Amino acid sequence: MSDNLSTSLKTRKILLSGVKPTGKPHIGNYFGAMKRFVELQDVYESYIFIADLHAITTVQNREELVNNTINVVLDYLAIGLDPKKVCIYKQSDVPQVTELAWIFNCLTTVPYLMRAHAYKDAVANGKEPNVGLFDYPLLMAADILIQDADVVPVGQDQKQHVEIARDTAEKFNRIFGPAKDGASETFKLPEPLILEDVATVPGLDGRKMSKSYGNTISLFATDDDIEKVVMNIVTDSSGEHPENVYAIHALLKDKELLDNLYKENKGKYKILKEMLIDDLQDFIRPIREKRQKLEKDKDTVLEVLREGGRVARERVEKKMEIVRDKVGLKLS
Ligand code: TYM
Repeated sequence: MSDNLSTSLKTRKILLSGVKPTGKPHIGNYFGAMKRFVELQDVYESYIFIADLHAITTVQNREELVNNTINVVLDYLAIGLDPKKVCIYKQSDVPQVTELAWIFNCLTTVPYLMRAHAYKDAVANGKEPNVGLFDYPLLMAADILIQDADVVPVGQDQKQHVEIARDTAEKFNRIFGPAKDGASETFKLPEPLILEDVATVPGLDGRKMSKSYGNTISLFATDDDIEKVVMNIVTDSSGEHPENVYAIHALLKDKELLDNLYKENKGKYKILKEMLIDDLQDFIRPIREKRQKLEKDKDTVLEVLREGGRVARERVEKKMEIVRDKVGLKLS
């Protein structure tokens, strides 16, 4: 695998993204971002990681973090990411990322970071955010910029974070100038890749699907779980059709076909829910079964991370040599 991975990551444009190991992934994560990782693995040179350092802003339990981290790798493999094509790694296996985040800390003002949504939401909800949560966007900027990412496939909720990465790249380039050869800026400006239709996948209650709202459908839910959660959806009967049922169904079915079905079954909420259950079960079953097979082979997961970490570290070290030189942390 090692030779294959290094040689297949060559001169195409670079894609980078990550998922936090904070719990079970849901279909919002999948349709909003993860599906794109798979679709684009042959198009871009791809770096997909598990954001365990971001996760510890909230998960502070060893067992839970270890299990969640392994689970995200299993999820990646089950949805079809191919470790021979994509560099899959664990964020904390690439310590240069935290080194770069510190450099960014020193370029960024506190009032600027206070405008970040995640921090503002935490404060608005009466939480006392830890420093890690406050600094979250700069660690994310380091993730993105250290790999020279051109595109970052994410859901709408991460758009501001990619903008902060762009601002940070611009600021660094402005202060420290282009790389030594004069050929290019030190950091590229990354673009978020957000698909309009699935920018914010709604949850069971119509709000954004989110682990923290408890309104999710797990990407690996059992047939029974799917039936239970869909039957428990509280439907809103004020519009043409039950909006939240329709919105989830629209992820799985062609719009024209779906509109016809909803027209034919107007007002028959139970039948519409049953159709959604069938479609969800058909969509989730094969990936759940693939994941169950993969679960038996934990060594493969660890090997994927070992190899991905090695490739990622080697690559970013070259970038950090340039950065340290620009900043004056390298003396020759
Ligand atoms: P995380 O783990 O919260 O979510 C993973 C991805 O799923 C997307 N997503 C959604 N998309 C549409 N509708 C929804 N309801 C929905 N819920 C979640 C998220 O936008 C995300 O793309 N900060 C990131 C992890 C991260 C990262 C990075 C991503 C760390 N460093 C660098 C990209 C680049 C996060 O918390 O994702």
